[in-house]
Amino acid sequence: MNKGQNHHGFPMEILQQTATPFYYYDLDVLRNTLEDIKRHIAGTSYLVHYAVKANGNPVILNEIAQHGLGADLVSGGEIIAALKAGIPAAMMTYSGVGKTDREIGIGLDNGIGCFNVESIPELDVIDQLAGERGKIASVAIRVNPDIDAHTHKYITTGTADNKFGIGIEALDQAIGHALGLKNTHLKGLHFHIGSQITQMKPYEMLCETINELLDAYDSKDIHFESINVGGGLGIDYSHPDEHPVPDLEQYFGTFKRLLHLRAGQQLHFELGRAIVGECGSLISRVVFVKENRNKRFVILDAGMTDLIRPALYDAHHKIQNLTASSNDDKAATAPYDIVGPVCESSDVFAVDYPLPATRRGDIIAIRSAGAYGESMASTYNMRSLPKSVFYQKR
Ligand code: LLP
Repeated sequence: MNKGQNHHGFPMEILQQTATPFYYYDLDVLRNTLEDIKRHIAGTSYLVHYAVKANGNPVILNEIAQHGLGADLVSGGEIIAALKAGIPAAMMTYSGVGKTDREIGIGLDNGIGCFNVESIPELDVIDQLAGERGKIASVAIRVNPDIDAHTHKYITTGTADNKFGIGIEALDQAIGHALGLKNTHLKGLHFHIGSQITQMKPYEMLCETINELLDAYDSKDIHFESINVGGGLGIDYSHPDEHPVPDLEQYFGTFKRLLHLRAGQQLHFELGRAIVGECGSLISRVVFVKENRNKRFVILDAGMTDLIRPALYDAHHKIQNLTASSNDDKAATAPYDIVGPVCESSDVFAVDYPLPATRRGDIIAIRSAGAYGESMASTYNMRSLPKSVFYQKR
């Protein structure tokens, strides 16, 4: 254990001095992840675009920009944030089913690398707006491959029943349409099958689908400069200390092994959660411990406005009491319902969760909250947005 760190590895002095609730980011974990990504894509034609929606905190974006990653964006606001962080526009992709004219304009004016287009009407609007500016827009067509990633129903995106992309049966028509446009350059195909994917099977199926499509279009003499396989690689919410960096060897290895890229063809990835998920924890203080007839509640000063994933998706995050001493840890742990202060019954982080004896004032860490935590925070109940604190040892 380092000086100043408690038995969970947190720098307690810093945490004690900061007003709760706040996001604590361990930049060493983020850097280890980014360096591992760089190692796995070195010497390949792979380019990783960071999905800014996972966490757009400027300090995190700057770190990612410095490691040479591109950006995957879903709004005009995200394009501007990525530009500010110094990510080159040419290394940006812009996805989303409802891009407004204004947002498309921001993309065109800044010369972003690729619009991931989700419908034929969108192709027409992008072409028209590019024409008005005397520009050529680079686009990829987002294909909905109808692959079930077996993840939560709100974060599955690649099946035929949801709003994303163009079905394979309509792809010929969309490609023909794009090729006929004057101010549009068709660069490639884009896919994204879902999020928090922890098995490789859906990615194996995706590779098969892409191989078939590439063969089919080769025979029609239609060739693509780039293929974008989206994001979705999951993290280990149960064991953040054992697996602070996801299994990138297995992930990139799956594509290296199975995807038959053509000579000179680039492979793009749009990873969000896998890059930032494990570097962040939501730090909170216990306001009250309260007992009802059948339940014991730990009431935190953090709530669903700071981290909405448990309330919205029944998501599981590991929770630790950082101020209970290691002796307390050995004492019998007791099940608590760990809840926030917001006036909603769904403002619950965990039910019947074992913690050591917990008291008012204890500091609690909700782990693996770097992705879709701060970026989904709200001010409901007129609460303040959570602040952030950054830590680095090296
Ligand atoms: N590319 C596209 C087109 C996407 O829609 C997404 C995520 C990503 C990339 C990045 O996916 P990742 O690598 O982070 O899984 N709020 C939810 C997750 C929503 C994901 C939406 N799309 C959560 O907290 O679990």
